[in-house]
Amino acid sequence: MGELGLNKIFGALLATALGLMGLATLPSVVFGGDGAHHGEHEEAASLGEKMCEQFHHCVEIAEAAPTGAAEAVFDLGAALLTADVTKGERTFAGQCSTCHSIAPGGANGTGPNLHNVVAADKAAHAGFKYSGALSNMEGNWTYENLNAWLASPAGYAKGTSMSFAGIKKDADRVNVIAYLAANTEGAPTFPAPMAAPAEAAPVDGEAVPAEGVVVPAEGEVAPAEGAAPAAPGSSPAEVPAPEVAPT
Ligand code: HEC
Repeated sequence: MGELGLNKIFGALLATALGLMGLATLPSVVFGGDGAHHGEHEEAASLGEKMCEQFHHCVEIAEAAPTGAAEAVFDLGAALLTADVTKGERTFAGQCSTCHSIAPGGANGTGPNLHNVVAADKAAHAGFKYSGALSNMEGNWTYENLNAWLASPAGYAKGTSMSFAGIKKDADRVNVIAYLAANTEGAPTFPAPMAAPAEAAPVDGEAVPAEGVVVPAEGEVAPAEGAAPAAPGSSPAEVPAPEVAPT
């Protein structure tokens, strides 16, 4: 056998040995050496990190995708339930009050006074000259509309004279909306939170009503539009329909 052949065999042995070494260290890699069982994501992350450290084999392990249906759809009702009015007041003072007063009877500035703005007609505050963009818009300032408007005024009403980029962070925006509501006499109740994803989107698209949900008998008041379906086991009669401002 020539030198070349020996080199090949040696190479093969070396490769095998390295492979075995790799296998031998793998359990400690997977279980972090302490044999403890981690959550699926933690395990994946630590495996990725350790593979990277030990084998210089750096693979981007995707972050647990924050794209679940529950997160893709922003639940304004749920967010408003936990909104912080005090934080909203602070944000308002920092970002809105240069243009808007909010006290009852407060003067219009660059923008209109915002007292009682929730559920008010759009572009209807006395004595303020609105842009055509906003005054041509139908409807009133529901929570949903305020949310869309404050996320991107120009996106909501193209050509608006409110030169404000919008509040991108959901929590900040919702806190401000809660603050507007706190400064609206008789503000409508917040929209109902969405139903739990399992109920909202049945697997396989089967539209099977959740067990225990009773269809209201004729004559009974149907839940207002947008109301969450009755929780399983409860009868619709016990669930008060949320007050919804007339649109
Ligand atoms: C640079 C000045 C400016 C800033 C900052 C500003 N706004 Fe405005 N806002 C305006 C103007 C101007 C209008 C009228 C828009 C139009 O007519 O198109 C307006 C309109 C509004 C309206 C509609 C009122 C109605 O009567 O229909 C709401 C609600 C509102 N602003 C809320 C806010 C909030 C909340 C903030 C802070 C997060 C804010 N604005 C920041 C200038 C501003």
